[in-house]
Amino acid sequence: MHKERIRRVLSLCFIVLLWSPFSASNATEVTDYERARWDPIHFKPAIDNATDEQCLACHQEVLEPSVKPQSPAGVKATDALAWYQTLDVYSGDQETFHRRHLVTPLAKKLMNLKCNFCHQGNGPRDETPYPDTKGDGSYTLRKMVNPEETCLRCHGQFNYKIMTGLPGHWNDVREMMGNSCLSCHAIFRTERHQVNYLNADAIEAATKEKTADGKENSDICFGCHGGRAWYQLEFPYPRHAWKGQDPKVPDWAKDRPTESEERFRLPAKPVVEKVADKVVEKVADKPAAAAKADTAAKPAKSATDAKKASD
Ligand code: HEC
Ligand code: HEC
Ligand code: HEC
Ligand code: HEC
Ligand code: HEC
Repeated sequence: MHKERIRRVLSLCFIVLLWSPFSASNATEVTDYERARWDPIHFKPAIDNATDEQCLACHQEVLEPSVKPQSPAGVKATDALAWYQTLDVYSGDQETFHRRHLVTPLAKKLMNLKCNFCHQGNGPRDETPYPDTKGDGSYTLRKMVNPEETCLRCHGQFNYKIMTGLPGHWNDVREMMGNSCLSCHAIFRTERHQVNYLNADAIEAATKEKTADGKENSDICFGCHGGRAWYQLEFPYPRHAWKGQDPKVPDWAKDRPTESEERFRLPAKPVVEKVADKVVEKVADKPAAAAKADTAAKPAKSATDAKKASD
């Protein structure tokens, strides 16, 4: 980052810090770039309990629209469409990475990502000071996020080989299947998305919004399960028990967890559920937030684990 920009960001941080109620305690302490950069909020354990507002007090720029109208070579952003931007659910102008995951309409509808969902504590000391091409690879170039635990969940391959009854990849068989994931997934693996970083009900509801030709829109599901695959790998999803499940566990599933990771789990739904739908939303929201704070207090993974995973 250029000095000028840093100074800008810092003066901004400072102003916001003075104003914001949640970081009042920091307001007098954080006075220079180095202190801000090494602010304990960047590291375990503080980062686990950090709110987006706290991070944004200094990093507001990550959510500002900043896509240039055209590239230096003159390609207009409005004319550029990447292969992953051709799903039915893609809409709006070109956006930055952070905005596409946090503030665009689709992101807000389907997901509930927080800064610390991806940023799990990032020590500048762990970043290599030079490109480590001849070394043992024990430092990474950047260590801001562990893709295996984040991106891969929604940008892995479509694992059709384990989907009994699917003759091929979705790109080849979607017409044959009536463009519907739910034709099978109304029966199989119906216990899904009960985690604090996804909006499970909104995902199911969105799928049922019909497309122009009156069919189910499988791109909602496919988008996160192969339609924007940056990786050759599939994410090994937990395999929650579902009603009508064959008790025999297939070989591929023998090592699969049967529950989502602890830090993402929602509390059991409150009993009021059956009484009135309206009440549920309110009641269910609160424990979700509380549970997050609880599980966030979990001790940090060991350094070796973290290293292994990010290498
Ligand atoms: C008090 C201000 C402040 C707060 C609060 C803050 N940061 Fe930072 N952060 C900085 C500064 C300053 C840097 C260094 C920027 C640079 O050198 O480009 C930085 C750097 C970073 C980086 C880049 C690290 C690297 O390896 O280069 C990330 C990622 C980051 N912060 C995320 C967060 C997250 C997530 C939160 C909330 C949990 C947060 N920050 C809260 C000031 C802050
Ligand atoms: C979906 C995962 C994800 C979420 C959610 C996320 N980030 Fe990031 N963030 C990343 C990745 C990946 C990078 C690294 C980008 C790169 O290497 O250029 C990054 C980079 C950054 C940087 C370094 C500066 C930069 O622009 O490269 C800062 C600061 C940052 N994020 C802050 C935040 C804050 C604050 C939030 C919450 C409002 C947030 N991030 C939410 C994945 C995420
Ligand atoms: C919880 C699911 C989820 C996670 C985790 C996630 N993404 Fe995404 N990502 C999405 C969705 C949904 C979209 C599509 C947004 C749209 O079309 O508006 C998307 C879009 C993108 C795009 C295209 C942006 C654009 O404007 O076309 C990129 C690039 C991307 N993700 C990279 C990443 C990376 C890198 C990570 C990990 C740091 C990550 N994603 C983590 C769900 C996720
Ligand atoms: C012909 C039926 C069928 C169709 C259509 C189908 N699936 Fe599946 N799917 C299955 C079966 C069967 C399983 C594995 C059930 C089990 O765990 O034994 C499965 C598993 C999955 C899994 C879990 C993978 C894992 O590694 O645990 C995901 C995610 C998934 N399907 C997504 C989709 C999406 C998205 C679509 C539509 C684009 C789709 N499926 C269409 C039958 C189908
Ligand atoms: C915003 C991204 C996103 C969308 C949209 C989405 N999924 Fe998922 N799906 C995920 C993630 C992330 C997980 C893993 C959740 C966890 O942590 O347990 C998952 C898990 C699953 C699983 C594994 C269930 C289990 O046993 O835990 C199945 C099956 C599945 N999704 C099918 C679907 C179908 C069908 C749709 C459309 C109705 C869909 N997904 C839409 C991101 C998405």
